Amino acid sequence: MVLKQALAQSHEYARMVVKEGDTVVDATMGNGNDTVFLAELVGKTGKVYAFDIQSIALEKTDEKLSQKNLEKRCILICDGHENMAQYIKEPVKLVMFNLGYRPGGDHSIATTGETTMKAVYAAMENLVVHGLIIIVIYHGGDTGFSERDYILKELPKIDSKSFAVMLTKFLNLPNNPPMLVCIERLK
Ligand SMILES: C[S@@+](CC[C@H](N)C(=O)[O-])C[C@H]1O[C@@H](n2cnc3c(N)ncnc32)[C@H](O)[C@@H]1O
Repeated sequence: MVLKQALAQSHEYARMVVKEGDTVVDATMGNGNDTVFLAELVGKTGKVYAFDIQSIALEKTDEKLSQKNLEKRCILICDGHENMAQYIKEPVKLVMFNLGYRPGGDHSIATTGETTMKAVYAAMENLVVHGLIIIVIYHGGDTGFSERDYILKELPKIDSKSFAVMLTKFLNLPNNPPMLVCIERLK
């Protein structure tokens, strides 16, 4: 299939904007796959802040980073991404959200619309011009529908002079394939 699923698209956009030496954020560490991906993109001189509310996510991520010798460029934070302003005091090029629950983990510990939007607004404050916030929305399953509905109601309220907000979704594929939201700072 030529058309790409949301996760693959999110990585393509990340590759387009992130350069060696950038500071970026993985807002949902989970099993660490995106943290590793971002750590490779920012290179030796870059920095990745990564958040999760579950200590198991930090353990899994640390293990993956150590295997690739990437741990020195990553700051793993066991706290909600909605509190990112307390930890990040510098401009960031990219903030990536991969919503839902940790694959292989407890389905009842998942992102929520309210906290995700709080984090998105916090991330907007630190985003550089032409930097991106990327959100992969898994809907369906436990809480996904209500989170999706909440986010899609909030995003159109974002000031269009300062930010462009784009939604990409398949209209006819079965099983609720994830959607992609990209937010670019314009000025
Ligand atoms: C779909 S997983 C992320 C997958 C991950 N990016 C990867 O590559 O494996 C979503 C994660 O978000 C975490 N999460 C839920 N609420 C959160 C919050 N308020 N702040 C940060 N992480 C949160 C969950 O604990 C879960 O590990």
